[in-house]
Amino acid sequence: MKKLLIIAHAPSLNTRALFAAVRRGAENPQLLDISIKARAPVEATPYDVLDADGLILGITENLAYMAGAVKDFFDRIYYPTISKKEGMPYALYIRAGSDGTGAMKGVERIVTGLRWRAVQEPLIFRGPYNKSFETDCEQLGLAFASGLEAGIF
Ligand SMILES: Cc1cc2nc3c(=O)[nH]c(=O)nc-3n(C[C@H](O)[C@H](O)[C@H](O)COP(=O)(O)O)c2cc1C
Repeated sequence: MKKLLIIAHAPSLNTRALFAAVRRGAENPQLLDISIKARAPVEATPYDVLDADGLILGITENLAYMAGAVKDFFDRIYYPTISKKEGMPYALYIRAGSDGTGAMKGVERIVTGLRWRAVQEPLIFRGPYNKSFETDCEQLGLAFASGLEAGIF
């Protein structure tokens, strides 16, 4: 059975709705051979990462960088997991007010060091909140879980 870890920073109603949508997609009842673990970044441990076959990371941009809770997650998991998860498939989504590129570049620099492998371009949800963001998140969860289960990633 493949193991998908979803780590999402969700400090607001909107970001909680995005997190829920990713989970809904990944927990599609037609996918039988995959287990889903969902965590806030402050709760996630190096073991959670070591134990995962793939990871979806949901973050917010604060002050032109990833939110501090997400940086804290990377600070804690970096050395315990480096060189042990090379090639791990991951996907990133970002909720930002108007930008998101600083957060994206920050994550990309870190995961380059970790040698994780992006399975798709990051999704950046910027501007006024739109329900279509949730559709995209649900799609992301479904596509990632399906690909992981099928061994495509
Ligand atoms: C302290 C703080 C700093 C922020 N800095 C940025 C920023 O640099 N760029 C950006 O696009 N959005 C920024 N935002 C907006 C947040 O990314 C956005 O409010 C958050 O993702 C939650 O989304 P929501 O407002 O739809 O609930 C900031 C928000 C806060 C509270």
